[in-house]
Amino acid sequence: MRIRILGSGAGGGFPQWNCNCANCRAVRAGEAGFSARTQSSLAVSADGANWVLLNASPDLREQIAAAAQLAPAEGDPVRASPIKAVALTNGDVDHVAGLLNLREAQPFSVYAAGRVLSALAANPIFTILQPQLVPRMELPMDEAVPLHGAGVDLGLSIRAFPVPGKIALYLEDKSAPNFGTSAGDTLGLQIIETKTGASFFYIPGCAKVDDALAARLRGAALVFFDGTLFHENEMIEQGLMGKTGSRMGHVNMSGADGSMAAFAPLGVARKIYVHINNSNPVLNANSPEHAIARDAGWEIGADGMEVTL
Ligand code: MLT
Ligand code: MN
Ligand code: ZN
Repeated sequence: MRIRILGSGAGGGFPQWNCNCANCRAVRAGEAGFSARTQSSLAVSADGANWVLLNASPDLREQIAAAAQLAPAEGDPVRASPIKAVALTNGDVDHVAGLLNLREAQPFSVYAAGRVLSALAANPIFTILQPQLVPRMELPMDEAVPLHGAGVDLGLSIRAFPVPGKIALYLEDKSAPNFGTSAGDTLGLQIIETKTGASFFYIPGCAKVDDALAARLRGAALVFFDGTLFHENEMIEQGLMGKTGSRMGHVNMSGADGSMAAFAPLGVARKIYVHINNSNPVLNANSPEHAIARDAGWEIGADGMEVTL
């Protein structure tokens, strides 16, 4: 199974268009230790020829352009794509807006939770993906389903499961508990290679590593995990936005309840942070926080990073 990080950044990417924080200034200036990052997405293939995207970011066009394996192959019909399916972990703009880059009458399948499919259905701009070419499939919870798209069996199964999180920002109901979030608004995905049974987890948004999630991840070969913020208050302290990590529905890397502490006893063989916000000090490869995360056994995801499992 081949996995490529198309985008390792959180919503807004790195640098973010309107952000003048120290990190964004440094990456714009080309300072050593900083690399630009596009928004949150992975591509996965069992056979190297047919691919599923995990989330479709607003940067998808440039992500495809940077990945030769996602271009039509020589000998393909005049209109063709190796992208046969897209699976969504939530309805956030950074995870669904890229579906609009996949218009042009190309067949593929969309897999998502019922709540996310409802959000897409409520927005007529997505009807540009005609239902007869782009079927939308509801992911059952905690059941492995084989991935198909454009008449191709991808040789992969996907098991979706709810994780603690928050409803998409644009759907928040300020008067409801947890802004109107229900189970299924934020999914983790386990991708399983049919032939070998090898599997990995993709969880780019997660508010808490609770007991159920810890039990599920124990002993995993590979986990891509929410690396939005290092500190609960980093966006407030940098004067960027008045929100904590918790308020945004993202568990922090540091702290007693943070992801580094939560993963420490789980024996996960390889753990890679993705969905890294532009405020996060780990984006500076020479920072103490970067060293702390590396010492805790984490890799800091980067665009174009490839993993074979
Ligand atoms: C998030 O991950 O919290 C969202 O992508 C925020 C947003 O929609 O900007
Ligand atoms: Mn996001
Ligand atoms: Zn910034």
